[in-house]
Amino acid sequence: MPRIVIAIDGYSSCGKSTTAKAVASQMGYGYIDTGAMYRAVSLFFLQEHVALSNSREVIAALDNIHIAFKHNNRTGKNETCLNGLNVEEEIRKMYISNIVSEVSAIPEVRWAMVAQQQKMGRRRGVVMDGRDIGTKVFPNAEVKVFMTADVYIRAKRRQQELLAKGEMINLEDIIQNLEKRDLIDTTRAESPLVQAPDAILLDTSHMTIEEQVEWVIELADRRLAEL
Ligand code: DC
Repeated sequence: MPRIVIAIDGYSSCGKSTTAKAVASQMGYGYIDTGAMYRAVSLFFLQEHVALSNSREVIAALDNIHIAFKHNNRTGKNETCLNGLNVEEEIRKMYISNIVSEVSAIPEVRWAMVAQQQKMGRRRGVVMDGRDIGTKVFPNAEVKVFMTADVYIRAKRRQQELLAKGEMINLEDIIQNLEKRDLIDTTRAESPLVQAPDAILLDTSHMTIEEQVEWVIELADRRLAEL
């Protein structure tokens, strides 16, 4: 059976990563959360007080960033590591969400991350979720999904996720953050968030995670049968 690349792009908080993770696990594929990489870079830039507008500082800082995903046998989850430290919880916090779109719009940051992502997926057999996977990272991905959902529903889901981690944020603030990120992500000059011409649109507003997973797996199975 050939091993393919499944690219899942779309707006923030549509269920991309939960779906991608489950699809990868059911297919025995690797999972790469590219958003986590931009979040880890944002955390590092904050910790090191990197001036985002100074490309010399940005490039120098990027040289000191090493991002890896490690499987935690105890929790069964993948954890994002920044220079050897587990930052999985930290990078999901709201203060990171508030700056990550600005950081990920910096061309030098994107070039560095895209190169790493292409390396991570070079053997194929991966599910990768992000904003530019089907357009830039793997334009030849065999399966491309573009996810969207109503912004109110996305914000409610995000609020529940944050609450489960003990962070109580009001819905209006989450809606504002999502809309701001969508705007920056879709209008940035370097590989903006856009549906690839050959990506299939999936509106998850009224779907459960199980339905989303089944939908992607069916699509992948159909594609595999054609190869
Ligand atoms: O998927 P996420 O919400 O964790 O992503 C965080 C931010 O990173 C998102 O606002 C846009 C950016 N991002 C990107 O520009 N390109 C990607 N491939 C993944 C994420």
